[in-house]
Amino acid sequence: MSRLSNLAVRDIETVVHPYTNLAAFRDTGPMVIERGEGVFVYDSDGKGYIEAMAGLWCTGLGYGNEELVEAAASQMRKLSFAHLFTAKSHDAAIELAERLKEIAPVPISKVFFCSSGSEANDTQVKLVWYMNNALGRPNKKKIISRLKAYHGVTVASASLTGLPNNHLDFDLPIAGILHTACPHLYRSRVEGESADAFAARLAGELEELILREGPETVAAFIAEPVMGAGGVIVPPPTYFARIGAVCDKYDIYMIADEVICGFGRLGTMFGSEALGFRPHALSVAKAMSSAYVPIAAVMIPDQMQEALVSQSRKIGTFGHGFTYSGHPVAAAVALKTLDIYQRDRIVDRAAARAPQFLERLGRLAEHPLVGDARGLGLIGGLELVADKASRRPFDPALAVAAHCVRYAEDEGLIVRHLSGDVVSICPPLIISPEEIDALFDRLGRALDRTLDGIRRAGILAG
Ligand SMILES: Cc1ncc(COP(=O)(O)O)c(C=O)c1O
Repeated sequence: MSRLSNLAVRDIETVVHPYTNLAAFRDTGPMVIERGEGVFVYDSDGKGYIEAMAGLWCTGLGYGNEELVEAAASQMRKLSFAHLFTAKSHDAAIELAERLKEIAPVPISKVFFCSSGSEANDTQVKLVWYMNNALGRPNKKKIISRLKAYHGVTVASASLTGLPNNHLDFDLPIAGILHTACPHLYRSRVEGESADAFAARLAGELEELILREGPETVAAFIAEPVMGAGGVIVPPPTYFARIGAVCDKYDIYMIADEVICGFGRLGTMFGSEALGFRPHALSVAKAMSSAYVPIAAVMIPDQMQEALVSQSRKIGTFGHGFTYSGHPVAAAVALKTLDIYQRDRIVDRAAARAPQFLERLGRLAEHPLVGDARGLGLIGGLELVADKASRRPFDPALAVAAHCVRYAEDEGLIVRHLSGDVVSICPPLIISPEEIDALFDRLGRALDRTLDGIRRAGILAG
């Protein structure tokens, strides 16, 4: 038995795979990735792929960065574990919190550390409830998220997520989490509507929802600057200004989920800056450590900090925290990542690469399968449709985008299929111009092979 099949068989017998059809998986088995270098990963047969999803939208600096390896190793040698409970601390967490405050796009008072985007957003929910209890408004607790949002999978964050598969049969969402429309221009704008009129309509829908629920019951609104897992949905330029005005009017706390967009993805340090979003609080994770180790953070304003302090006065403690909140190895790696972003001007480099990336992405809009090619900075999505003129989607059972992703893998390219037949692209920020060209050449061939396949199957006329 070859090493791959041995590993594959052992995997099938032992591992529960996230976001996988576990019934089909028993036959297909895993793609086993063995190593990575730059923007490339290599499977256990030695085949190389451009990792054009940066893992899960996270490895900003790509693979094999020795400085990050060394930052982890030297911190492990010095102090492998320390925590922040019961007034203990360590230099890596202090320095990282200072650094995050410095680069924050809005005034931030304090930083709470955790290990994943889900933990960060779960923490945001708990803090909003806690704050409104501290402020003596116990009925102002509802949180508005958006359809197609992705905020994670723990109980509260999965409830914020606005995708059916994260709710179905998990008995979610929990009470008090509401979903409003998302700014999916391609799917939801009405005939002849300008982008700004569309944004105004969505802001109007948000206001109606708030009024229907009662503004005294609505506490917070959470949004990704560009929506990732929901289909790479880029809002119109005026969307956040209009949404922000509604939230201001009803004293609604705004949370930016910067888990994907933070640290350069849109060509700005934070996605909020690219889109004119002025949140009160931010969730960050993923590229903060370039995903070399898990770390995330919740960045909170003065008003929240004051509430936490007043609750501590009343209760005697702040009863929230994870064993790995501010883990010193993760904090040291995140600090080194931020050093590299600054020293190598990674955010500027991402911004400089964006026109080429978006131009190559935009060219794919001409492909017969592509209804919409959208993106911002170094994130993009292709929405595949059965009929371009009417925007008619394929039957989801045909899994057309999933087929395209498999052809891309044949071509040596890792991209991801999302619901609604969207193929997403989100390469490491260090990608070179030549690698961007190679990425889109391979993706173009994958689209051609997909088209060929569905024509041969008689699904589309040839
Ligand atoms: C915008 C956003 N928020 C939150 C999360 C959840 O992060 P994690 O998977 O680290 O819990 C993700 C994960 O992809 C994300 O894209």
